[in-house]
Amino acid sequence: MHVAAFRCPSNIALVKYWGKKGLQLPANASISFTLRDLYTETRVETSKGEGRAEVYVDGVRQPSFDAKVQAFFDRQKPAMTWMDGVDFRVYTHNNFPHSSGIASSASGMGALALCAGELHRQVSGEMLPTTTISSMARLGSGSACRSVYGPLAIWGEHPAYPGSSDQFAVPFPEQELHENFRQWEDAVMIVESGRKAVSSTAGHKLLDAHPYAAARYATANANMEQLQGILRSGDVAAFTALVESEALQLHAMMMCSMPYYLLMKPASLEIIRRVWDFREQTGVPLVITLDAGANVHVLYPAQFKTQAEELINNSLVSLCENGQYLCSSIGEGVVQLNP
Ligand code: DP6
Repeated sequence: MHVAAFRCPSNIALVKYWGKKGLQLPANASISFTLRDLYTETRVETSKGEGRAEVYVDGVRQPSFDAKVQAFFDRQKPAMTWMDGVDFRVYTHNNFPHSSGIASSASGMGALALCAGELHRQVSGEMLPTTTISSMARLGSGSACRSVYGPLAIWGEHPAYPGSSDQFAVPFPEQELHENFRQWEDAVMIVESGRKAVSSTAGHKLLDAHPYAAARYATANANMEQLQGILRSGDVAAFTALVESEALQLHAMMMCSMPYYLLMKPASLEIIRRVWDFREQTGVPLVITLDAGANVHVLYPAQFKTQAEELINNSLVSLCENGQYLCSSIGEGVVQLNP
């Protein structure tokens, strides 16, 4: 029997991955902030068996999670023959509430890939590079491939980013990151904690027959290049405009797909409006972004924590479901745990 355990953080995209080709390859390049304080911790035990995966969440057996985890291992098998005939018991825990509506697939599949990489080392003696771990995570969930790096990760081949690939993510070069973007925070305002109206896997599919897909992919790739210049120059105002436009484009794509979806709730819109009003009145650079759901991420430089918390507590919390919000600093967050 072999055992491995890892912590892997979640991430929030600044330029969004929305649309795929082939086996979990992105239709456009994307870039994300790693949410170091919102993470999954996973322990995997192997034993001789029939190649089955069993999942325990917070110590309780959860057969409904088996299929996704099984699919993860099945997709690794062509490159990892030792997995044939091996059973996997997977114990997993998110440090954010399960009911928060925060997608756990990025951190969950990232943690699983890190464990699988360590098990591979134990079985074969070969230490896999992080790019391979990232690629393994991608086979579980696209956005997961970005979670194994911080503070910023790039996924998708793009001429402006040498070494970038559709197969795996790479870190944004630390020496190129302007001081203005080195210490940021994310406050996730929980507007809706239930299941998403549309899973991201189904959401990506909508792009296959979307009338604006080609224009969206071209815009995202152009934004990747523009954002590189912004991250190097430290232009926070340009960062704000680009990141917010990306989030609203993702939602606009959902609104004009067939079938169409309206993923924001009235409270999401009100939070965005209040953040924009506050920014205009105070000059404090709070930046909103969203995943494919109703929750609003409020990004801001750490130096404005007091002002941001004041707005959150006095004005935004009342719009959140049960007053729930989650906070994280941006940074690296992979930790190998004592199994
Ligand atoms: C809107 O990575 O969850 O969060 O590859 O099907 O697992 P699958 O999709 P997933 O899609 C995330 C989409 C997004 C944008 C992003 O994270 O880039």
